[in-house]
Amino acid sequence: MIIQTINLTKRYGKLVALNNLHLDIEEGECFGYIGPNGAGKTTTIKILATLLQPTWGEARVCGHVVGYESSKIRPLIGYVPDFFGAYEDMVVQEYLEFFASAYNIQGAQRTRVVGDVLELTDLAYKRDSLVDGLSRGMKQRLSVARVLLHDPKVLLLDEPASGLDPRARIEMRELLKELWRMGKTIVISSHILHELAELCTTIGIIEQGELLFHGSLEEAVRRARMGTRVLIRVLEQQDLAAQLIEKHESVKKIEINNGYIVAELDDDVHDFSSLAQLLLANKFRINEIKEEEVNLETAFMRLTKGIVQ
Ligand SMILES: Nc1ncnc2c1ncn2[C@@H]1O[C@H](COP(=O)(O)OP(=O)(O)O)[C@@H](O)[C@H]1O
Ligand SMILES: [Mg+2]
Repeated sequence: MIIQTINLTKRYGKLVALNNLHLDIEEGECFGYIGPNGAGKTTTIKILATLLQPTWGEARVCGHVVGYESSKIRPLIGYVPDFFGAYEDMVVQEYLEFFASAYNIQGAQRTRVVGDVLELTDLAYKRDSLVDGLSRGMKQRLSVARVLLHDPKVLLLDEPASGLDPRARIEMRELLKELWRMGKTIVISSHILHELAELCTTIGIIEQGELLFHGSLEEAVRRARMGTRVLIRVLEQQDLAAQLIEKHESVKKIEINNGYIVAELDDDVHDFSSLAQLLLANKFRINEIKEEEVNLETAFMRLTKGIVQ
């Protein structure tokens, strides 16, 4: 286990930001840490980055305990915070050399390492540009470049895609995929589930300091999905059609929503052709019949509302 928290609890005064959090992340995972604003993501990541102390409980990174062995943890992690400080009058190359020096990387090795991370993060062509003049997407990539200088095993990224335009988001995602393929363990937070869908091997959903779910994305969607929901529109006599459908043996319940009759089927039923047959046999004219798409947003809302556990 490369990251482990046991009963991790953080209070700010009376506010409980993390409540007995148990989190296990294996080496080589790309872990998506998802939750709405205020859920406790930044607090968790800052603790893992050794910048905050737990109120009680324990957090371990690469086997070392945060607080007691923080100096052993720091060389092993790269932490990208959710803000970018101002560095006026510094060009990209200087900026990275400055941080490389801080990591005690000197001389020819420094030139080589800075060159490598510039290539990797696609910023080589910006090496002589002022940091403050970079676009937000480039600044975010530069933040990642900065934490790669000392070649850490674990990357902790706090909402690295927030505020980026769609193109910059894709570039960031591709960069993180590349780093993951290189063998880094990645922890990345976001309040948008689908942003992480393509990237992460596992996800954790946190709300109000509690972990509601931990597992694969498929499992999260499966749990959130519950029974199949079928959307039906008929040309006339919708109420009568709804009454008829409600009596169907596979229909758990119905509702009228947005002009559709919404029929929720029993958990193990996915085929809804018999609903269409029933309507046709009773001379209803069907305008539309389709399965409701469970998108990731819906799944996320259901999971975070505690509808499924
Ligand atoms: N320094 C602080 N002092 C007091 N409360 C804080 C502090 N930092 C965060 N909080 C509170 O702790 C909770 C969790 O915050 P945070 O970890 O930033 O959540 P997230 O990153 O998921 O948005 C929120 O209710 C937030 O207001
Ligand atoms: Mg945050």
